Amino acid sequence: MRKIILLGYMGCGKSTIADKLSKTISIRFVDLDKKIEEKTNLSINDIFKKYGEIYFRKVEREVFIELLHSPQQLIIGLGGGTPCYANNHELLKNENVVSIYLKASIETLFSRLISNRSKRPLIASKSDEEMKEFIAKHLFDRSFYYNQAQYKVSVDDKTVDQTVLDIVAILA
Ligand code: S3P
Repeated sequence: MRKIILLGYMGCGKSTIADKLSKTISIRFVDLDKKIEEKTNLSINDIFKKYGEIYFRKVEREVFIELLHSPQQLIIGLGGGTPCYANNHELLKNENVVSIYLKASIETLFSRLISNRSKRPLIASKSDEEMKEFIAKHLFDRSFYYNQAQYKVSVDDKTVDQTVLDIVAILA
């Protein structure tokens, strides 16, 4: 069954947009991070703290593949790093997959993450200035992987509803 995959940097709005899209097109939304937390019985922060990022990436890939094999039609919201590790970007091109990169500028990401970083181990301990620099560099490093998605939707200066309409048009 077809999987609709939303990807993009932390703070681009994957979960909020996927949630609204799910209600609009009546397809179940599964958030990969939440699924990982359920499976491991740990928060993402605790997985990073107790077992480190490499372990997190291993579980992330396993759970992503499990979801891709699910018999249900699903909207899957990836974590910001999912396409950038373990060749996961190759999975964005599978036959039964529609992958959509939610593209946001550094400014948009910074303004959304500034008050929302505590649950994100990669940026939780950074100062505002460090975070801006980190986002700029990290986004540049990751763009290659994000651009492997089949479609791109810009989220800058758009409401959630507008972005959802853009996605619905892609899926039509
Ligand atoms: C990560 C993004 C997070 C989460 C983890 C690592 C990343 O997901 O998977 O903290 O590497 O960018 P969100 O993009 O949903 O914040």
